[in-house]
Amino acid sequence: MVSVEFKGHKLEVEVGETLLNAADRSAVRIPNSCRQGLCHSCVMVLEAGEVTPQAQQGLTDHQISQGLFLACQCVPQGDMKIALPGKLGKIPATLISKQWLNGCVVELVFETSMRWTAGQNITLWKDEEHGRAYSIASSRKYDGLLKLHVAQYEQGLVSRWCAEGLQEGDQVLLGEANGDCFYTEDAHDKPLLLVGTGTGLAPLYGVLMDALREGHSSEIHLYVAAAEPEGLYLVDQLQRLAGEHDNFHYHPVVRRQPTEEAVEGSVQGDLGVLIPKAHAALRGWKVFLCGSPKMIEGLRKYCFLAGAGGNDILFDAFEVAHEIY
Ligand code: FES
Repeated sequence: MVSVEFKGHKLEVEVGETLLNAADRSAVRIPNSCRQGLCHSCVMVLEAGEVTPQAQQGLTDHQISQGLFLACQCVPQGDMKIALPGKLGKIPATLISKQWLNGCVVELVFETSMRWTAGQNITLWKDEEHGRAYSIASSRKYDGLLKLHVAQYEQGLVSRWCAEGLQEGDQVLLGEANGDCFYTEDAHDKPLLLVGTGTGLAPLYGVLMDALREGHSSEIHLYVAAAEPEGLYLVDQLQRLAGEHDNFHYHPVVRRQPTEEAVEGSVQGDLGVLIPKAHAALRGWKVFLCGSPKMIEGLRKYCFLAGAGGNDILFDAFEVAHEIY
């Protein structure tokens, strides 16, 4: 058992236990969301003691040099003193515009000096204790502004603040961009399979736009699924792009399709059935899977078995939040 000092509390951490679990057990709140090392909302700063490399995996060299680490990945090996990071490792951004993309998803557009690539993710901080990871839908090189698609949840603290509280001109703090789900030069002549659910479209839209702007020379198939037609968004833009680029094919997918509201060209069904039917062989393809962890788990296996190389299957699973955001 080791002891961790935080905000005047002494947390007793059992052997093999993560710092985040120990804090939960002691009813001490450490910000968190995915608990898998993906979202970085549990980032803390080390004031005394040591952390293992596992606790800093996925952080930038700059963040590591500042003593930052992830509470959900930290299994303390000795006594420590920790604190919330405040502004450490966070970059200011100004909200330039805000618009609804459908009845549930709001697009936030920020100006920031941060470096990012379309398809990566950042944590948007409401305040020091509440942050939520979102994927980046725009290109720094081509758009200059950072765009996020934020889905609203009735009890979502951060998403409700984005929709109701944040105003154009407001300053916020963002965590540094991370993740490898983005378009790279080596994909230039490979067929691309982009598959997403809900706001999984955000990183895929970023990847798609980068590919088209870089003159991607092979086929691009984008599948985006929603429970109902109203859940889809950017439909007109994507249909227009498909009309302008012979090599781009947009496939909206809905699970329930009332005929009177059907989206033009949409298919009713399940991605786990539709993709194997439409793409029996994926050798040489580059695959991007974004959204529901269940969809990703199933399709990762399928794409690998259908011939896509392990390194050519990139994914961005939207974690199930431990707390309601
Ligand atoms: S990275 Fe720790 S809660 Fe998401």
